[in-house]
Amino acid sequence: MTGIDFTAGWVNGWIITIVLINLLGCLWLLWWTRKRPEDPIKDGESMGHSFDGIEELNNPLPHWWLNLFYFTIAFALIYLTLYPGWGDAKGVLGWSSVGQWETEVQKADNRYNDFFEEYAALPIEQLAQNEEVIKTGQRLFGNNCAICHGSDARGNVGYPNLTDGDWLYGGTPDKIKETLTNGRGGMMPALGAALGEQGTKDVAAYVLSLSNRSGSGDAAAGKEKFDMMCAACHGPDGKGNHMLGAPNLTDDVWLYGGTEDTIIETLNNGRQGKMPAFKDQLSPEKIHVLAAYVYSLSN
Ligand code: HEC
Ligand code: HEC
Repeated sequence: MTGIDFTAGWVNGWIITIVLINLLGCLWLLWWTRKRPEDPIKDGESMGHSFDGIEELNNPLPHWWLNLFYFTIAFALIYLTLYPGWGDAKGVLGWSSVGQWETEVQKADNRYNDFFEEYAALPIEQLAQNEEVIKTGQRLFGNNCAICHGSDARGNVGYPNLTDGDWLYGGTPDKIKETLTNGRGGMMPALGAALGEQGTKDVAAYVLSLSNRSGSGDAAAGKEKFDMMCAACHGPDGKGNHMLGAPNLTDDVWLYGGTEDTIIETLNNGRQGKMPAFKDQLSPEKIHVLAAYVYSLSN
C-alpha cells in the first residue's frame, strides 16, 4: 500500500491528539487573556496608545460572551463523545452515517412500497386517469427514460416518440409493460448489397410513394422488390408488424427520418434500435406505474 493508510491505528491517535491540542489550546487562550485583579489598567481606561484620534480602551469581554466560549468547548467535548468523534471510536449514541442512511432508505421504501403495491392491483387504463400516479410515473420517466426518449417523451432520431399513438411494438397496456420489462431490439437488415444501387433507389421511391411522395427511382419496379424482400416484415401493404417492431411505412411518422437520403441509408446499412430491459432496475410495481404514464401520453 502506498501513501498514508487512513485506517492504520496511529492515524486515529494522531487525529485525537490534534483535536485535543486545539480544544485545550482554546481553553488556555481564554484563561491566559482573562481579567486579573492585579491588572494595572482598570476597566474603561486607556491602554496607552492612540492613532488618528482613536484610542484603545481596556474593555474586557462581557461575562456572558466569555461563558459562551467555555460552553462551546464543553459542547465540543460532549459532542465528540456522543457521536463517533474520537478517531474510530463508535460514539456513546451508536449513531453512524451508514446506519442513518439505511433507516431513511427503509422508511422511504416502506412508504413508496405501499404506494406502488396499492396501484399494482389496478388496471393501467384506470391508473392513466389518476393524477398522483401520472406525477410519480413522470418522475420515474425523468430518471430512467428521458435520456433517450426526451423529457417530454417525444423522442429523437432512433428513439421513438411515445406520445403520438404510433407504435413499433404495440400500445396496449400489456405490450407497453412487455417493452419496459424485457426491452426490445429492432432488426432491420442491411439490404443495399442485395438490392444494388438502382434497386435501392427504386425501393426508396416506392417507400416514399406509400406516404404520397416521390423519389428519383422507379416506384413500380421498387414495389416488386418490396413484395419480395420487405413485405415479410413490413407487411404487404407496408403498414408494419408489431411482433417484429417493423415500422409502419405509410403514415409519414419516421423513426430515423423519411427523406430519400435517410431511407437509402436505412436500406444500405440496416438499423438496430435497442430499447434496454428494465426488469433488473425497476420493480414490477414501478414498471406498472411507468406503463400507466406511457399509456396516458397517447390516450
Ligand atoms: C438507452 C436508450 C433508451 C432508454 C434509457 C429507454 N429507451 Fe425506450 N426505446 C429505446 C429505443 C432505441 C427504442 C426503439 C427500439 C427499436 O428501434 O426497436 C425504444 C422503444 C421504447 C418503447 C416502444 C415504442 C413503440 O413504438 O412500441 C417504449 C414504450 C419505450 N421505449 C419506453 C421506455 C421507457 C418507459 C423507458 C424508461 C423506463 C425507456 N423506454 C428507456 C431507447 C431507450
Ligand atoms: C427482417 C425484417 C425486416 C426486413 C426484411 C426489412 N425490414 Fe425494414 N425494418 C425492420 C425493423 C425491425 C425496422 C426498425 C428498426 C429499428 O427499430 O431500429 C425497420 C426499419 C425500416 C425503415 C426505417 C423506418 C423509419 O421510421 O425510419 C425503413 C425505411 C425500412 N425498414 C424499409 C425497409 C425496406 C424498403 C425493406 C426491404 C428492402 C425492409 N425494410 C426490409 C424490419 C425489416
